[in-house]
Amino acid sequence: MFKDKKVVFSGVQPSGVLTLGNYLGAIKNFSAFSDEYKCYYCVVDEHAITVRQNPADLRRRTYETLALYMACGLDPAKNTLFVQSHVSAHAELGWILDCYTMFGELSRMTQFKDKSQKNADNINAGLFTYPSLMVADILLYQTELVPIGSDQKQHLELTRDVAARFNAIYGDTFVIPEPYIPQTTARIMSLAEPSKKMSKSDENENAVVRILDPKDTIIKKFKRAVTDSGCEVRRAPDKEGVSNLMTIYSAFTGKTDAEIEAEFAGRGYGDFKLAVGEACADALAPVQAEFARLMADKAYLEDVMANGAEEAWRNAYRTMSKVRRKIGFTEPKRR
Ligand code: TYM
Repeated sequence: MFKDKKVVFSGVQPSGVLTLGNYLGAIKNFSAFSDEYKCYYCVVDEHAITVRQNPADLRRRTYETLALYMACGLDPAKNTLFVQSHVSAHAELGWILDCYTMFGELSRMTQFKDKSQKNADNINAGLFTYPSLMVADILLYQTELVPIGSDQKQHLELTRDVAARFNAIYGDTFVIPEPYIPQTTARIMSLAEPSKKMSKSDENENAVVRILDPKDTIIKKFKRAVTDSGCEVRRAPDKEGVSNLMTIYSAFTGKTDAEIEAEFAGRGYGDFKLAVGEACADALAPVQAEFARLMADKAYLEDVMANGAEEAWRNAYRTMSKVRRKIGFTEPKRR
């Protein structure tokens, strides 16, 4: 049915309450592909366990992430929404591709370096080989396009290298995917330290706006956002905080930088921060309402997961058979 459609794949880790960075950098853009592409959007729980998770939290967040996908506009009738660990081909191809990914390549991954600094007591092998599991996620579905924020770009480059390497050895097996990185919202910065990216796992709650934060919390966080000692709302390299707030305001209102600068000329940062907070909270309110509605119907979420996993399996299976044959694995006799 979808044979003529090109494939989009992306994933989000259920490792914390999702942030404005996840929303503007990734999820908000996902539904734009649903009509033209065959889309797979995956809750990547296997990636999440590279950092120690509380099992009850992981389980709950897996449902929440799926519900957020839908609350952000992904219709399960038009998109394959599923949980990574429900389709064991991800882990299987992940292992195979570990054997085609170089130690040196994995050592250069900046996310590995960051995460091993933050989790110095748990630098496990999974944290190191995490990128080849991501490579497998993408290649398993013969993906053409991967919508991501800019922090995942290096992993996408690795995916292309591993796919090309495998194809060079065994002949055409995998489609070589392209990243789709949004122009303005590819890297939403921390509100507390605007030189750092906004991250789910930041310990400073004031640094991170969560998609599910109530309106007053969102406004409070924006009011506290770090700017600079000036008072001019203007985008500039030495005004990282203000520039980040302008990006967020523009994403929610559609206004250009010139329009924003004109709107707040002579008004100072207080008014501006309040306006950003309100625009953000108002835009997230319908997402939050739909999220609450979906979370109240666990049976429905489980149906979506089951259908998604079945559909994903059907397509993953084709790639797995091809890969197994090419590398010389035997098939067990069916009895
Ligand atoms: P994760 O869960 O960290 O983030 C999910 C998506 O959100 C984007 N993102 C941001 N975009 C803009 N500004 C930010 N501050 C920001 N923070 C996060 C991420 O770039 C990502 O697109 N390894 C991936 C998950 C993954 C995946 C995949 C993605 C696993 N397999 C296959 C694409 C394809 C990750 O940790 O994303």
